[in-house]
Amino acid sequence: MKRKQFLTPRSAAAISGPAVGSSTPLVKAVKGMNDILPVDIGRWHAVEGAFARSMQRLGYREIRTPYVEPTPLFVRAIGETTDVVEKEMYSFRHHDEPLTLRPEGTAGAVRAYVEHGVHNTEPVTRWYYHGPMFRAERPQRGRYRQFYQLGAECIGDAGPGCDAEMIDALVGFLQDIGIEKPDVFLNSIGSGDTRARYKEALTAALSPMKDKLSADSQRRLTTNPLRILDSKHPADAEAIATAPTILDFLSDADRAHWDELRRQLDALGTPYQVDPKLVRGLDYYTRTLFEIKGAYDKLGAGSTLLGGGRYDGMVKDLGGPEVPAIGFAAGLERLLIASTLEVSASVVDVFVAPLGEGTQAPALVLARDIRRAGLRCEVDTRKASMKAQLRRANALGARVCLILGDREVNEGVVEMKDLAAHVQEKVARADVVARAAAVVASPVPPAREGDGK
Ligand code: HAM
Repeated sequence: MKRKQFLTPRSAAAISGPAVGSSTPLVKAVKGMNDILPVDIGRWHAVEGAFARSMQRLGYREIRTPYVEPTPLFVRAIGETTDVVEKEMYSFRHHDEPLTLRPEGTAGAVRAYVEHGVHNTEPVTRWYYHGPMFRAERPQRGRYRQFYQLGAECIGDAGPGCDAEMIDALVGFLQDIGIEKPDVFLNSIGSGDTRARYKEALTAALSPMKDKLSADSQRRLTTNPLRILDSKHPADAEAIATAPTILDFLSDADRAHWDELRRQLDALGTPYQVDPKLVRGLDYYTRTLFEIKGAYDKLGAGSTLLGGGRYDGMVKDLGGPEVPAIGFAAGLERLLIASTLEVSASVVDVFVAPLGEGTQAPALVLARDIRRAGLRCEVDTRKASMKAQLRRANALGARVCLILGDREVNEGVVEMKDLAAHVQEKVARADVVARAAAVVASPVPPAREGDGK
């Protein structure tokens, strides 16, 4: 009774239009926004739970911020010339206030940090979060318009020990959820001075090739040249390959930070690859940048499971004091595609099957007693046939079916069927809750030949 699923594809009816025999058109979900049906939710809970436990072990506490924030927050924090702000935000006006569905969680967390004056209460703040984010991207496998992130922010520590700890813990978390070989890619884009000198050198190197670059990169040459390094357009490949690398431009302080980060990762035994062309799509980053990829066969181009980095200027940019910070976010759907984690599909432990006229009320009492003992129990209230009730018990993954006919009620007994061991016995009503609990707790016997046929 294990299942490994992800998002349930829309039903055939939903794709093909109005249901047969109905003239009412179906209202379908927005493209790129998916239902997560109960049949799939077990794996979501398992990964969310593993993430929360892993962050709590590191001393992080959960924060929940609104899904909607003032638009200027994202423009200021993420950067006006980023893809996210230029093309991907769901923005609208409400009573003349410009609002946006959050495209990521860092800006909101830092807004909350500044708004609540958290720097006055503790020197280092460690927060984690999970929830939906919204970006108007072209939907494909691993890329959605409403997607879920698991993320964390550590505010108040300039690193690099904190950076190394975060990256190492993330590798451990990914392995915990059955992603065996996460590949860590690491870079430093330095602080303001370093980037100003590098931007100048990059622009000088790429300008002579301007005509060969993609239209987007030609525009970025003046607006945001670092973003060119992130282009996947074939026309930009040569320019990217020959461009100078930022690691050659690090200031002394940035280089000391970078060298120390690598020393600490080595001491932790965390494998990583330096990718000097790694830049990320959000403008707030400084110094440490990282991405973790995996499951290339299942995710293809969307194999980036998570990304993060340092953003030492954001707290100040959003009106707070000068406080350094680092964080990351993982795409939950991508983790689920990449993960080999399997969960039980069992919905209830016990199924109570009343048969006969006077059995409904005693069945409801029995089911309530079962639940009070801490077991999950469904009772059939449909007055269905024995066959239909057993089919339902099996479909719900119940271990035990308790059958209650008129005769059993009169005799003060219950027929108890162990659906995994295929054995049935009569049990006194007074003992049945404890007996059912013992069967539920006992190991499932090995499958017999012919079972399941
Ligand atoms: P990001 O790289 O934009 O960073 O997103 C982080 C992760 O979210 C990606 O690696 C990917 O797994 C997932 N993701 C992004 N867009 C989509 C999408 N359209 N559909 C499905 N998954 C997606 C951030 O969001 C930063 N806030 C991370 C961070 C936190 N940096 C510092 N602190």
